[in-house]
Amino acid sequence: MTEVPWWRSGVVYQIYPRSFADDGGGDGAALAGGVGVGTLEGVRRRLDHLVWLGVDALWLSPFYRSPMADFGYDVSDHCDVDPVFGTLDDFDRLLAEAHDKGLRVLIDWVANHTSDHHPWFVDSRSSRDSPRRRWYHWRNPAPDGGPPNNWRAAFARDQPAWTLDPTTGQYYLHLFLPEQPDVDWSQRPAVEAMHDVLRFWLDRGVDGFRADAIHAIGKDPDLADDPPARAGTPRSSTNDHPSTHDHLRELRRLVDSYPGQRVMVGEVYLLDTAKVAPYYGDRDELHLAFNFPPLYTPWDAAAWRARLEEVERHLTAVGAWPTWVLGNHDNPRPRTRYGSPARARAAAFLLLGQQGTPFLYAGDELGLEDAVVPPGQAVDPGGRDGCRAPLPWDASPGHGWQTRPWLPWPPGAAARNVEVQRREPASILHLYRRLLATRRASPALSLGTSSVLDAPDGVLAWARATPDDRRVVAVNFTDGPRELDVGPGWTVEVSSDGDGEGRPWTGRLAADQALVLHP
Ligand code: NOJ
Repeated sequence: MTEVPWWRSGVVYQIYPRSFADDGGGDGAALAGGVGVGTLEGVRRRLDHLVWLGVDALWLSPFYRSPMADFGYDVSDHCDVDPVFGTLDDFDRLLAEAHDKGLRVLIDWVANHTSDHHPWFVDSRSSRDSPRRRWYHWRNPAPDGGPPNNWRAAFARDQPAWTLDPTTGQYYLHLFLPEQPDVDWSQRPAVEAMHDVLRFWLDRGVDGFRADAIHAIGKDPDLADDPPARAGTPRSSTNDHPSTHDHLRELRRLVDSYPGQRVMVGEVYLLDTAKVAPYYGDRDELHLAFNFPPLYTPWDAAAWRARLEEVERHLTAVGAWPTWVLGNHDNPRPRTRYGSPARARAAAFLLLGQQGTPFLYAGDELGLEDAVVPPGQAVDPGGRDGCRAPLPWDASPGHGWQTRPWLPWPPGAAARNVEVQRREPASILHLYRRLLATRRASPALSLGTSSVLDAPDGVLAWARATPDDRRVVAVNFTDGPRELDVGPGWTVEVSSDGDGEGRPWTGRLAADQALVLHP
């Protein structure tokens, strides 16, 4: 029998380094200005939180050298650590200690674009004859002097995905900010330079990559206009060119040539599960691909049922192992989106009860809400500051940070912090821990099949099974009690409000309650 790779059964914890933890030890008041930034050393010092929680791996959002126009997703040196986050030695120490504690480490790989300060782009823009001119997409202006096509950039809706460079008189393409020029993946030397980046980190021992905007790397060589129906939509959420798949097969071979179950998780930001499926190829492209439709699904049983059925139809039916994401650094947190603490607790079951690899965003295990960021303090060009608020580690005024952090605290940090919730067995933090332990101990939950069960309106229930193990997961999306018939002989293993755990299942779900049942 072939060994099941860790990235199928495991749970990945996403860390946004800027907001996770600084070197610690102070009272947070050292600098009134609010400039404190998390560090790699801060992550290392807090690894025991991940071990205690019971996740298998961590994914670090970018910590590379960057002018920070997009807070690190504008990379100016892929092979070095930005001084605000520490040094390469700090990274090596973090990696070694994570491995010692049994945690895998994934890092972000920003492949579609670089910073406009990256030496590759500085060289490229220096003259039309520069050796690296073709590493980026340069085009002459349209006859009216405007951009070469009608593609729109992300973030600022009405902005073209092109910026004119006055020195050389041509436009360059950027699906995101003007500070993030797109690399031309049809140019072999650029591709090889990107492969070298992967080797640099694989040789250092990382367990894999989360590949940023990977669906966008292959471009239509004609750069044809988007059709009128799509003309206002950012190109970054629709770009789906066949050449990307050739690149992914090559990348898969590169990653698989290293021992130890390295993994490539792709951010495929195409908001349609049927369009995500091809990015797994014939099991020869991405190992895992993000599937974002559930993240954008409201608190509604029928809508969620449709998401589960799409995953079954488009992914598991063809042997592609799904992923589940309910929070990340780009979107309001589940507690904020779903609107109540009870729903934030039930959402943990939607994330950890599914067939597929869950990605848990740091702070969602504390039930954090987005911070309210006053306009004068807003810094992100994409309006995503709220979910990037710093993690409160304790109830002290500095919440475990030595310097007041770059963004305001999330609401209620005096109670919603790691230390206080660890002392409180009824907290959402303990609920996450129980669910993670239950998932790990149950082959049905971690690796079994999934099938949606008949349930009354407002309830979603699904069965998980291996030949020797079974579970039922049920979520009541309504604000009243609901009866659910799943047959006799079930016991409540985990319940979102803690009620009834260890006792026979009564057949009744409380408002916004979620359960794991065992036979
Ligand atoms: C997706 C990342 O998650 C987001 O934070 C970033 O702004 C864009 N890609 C561009 O790199």
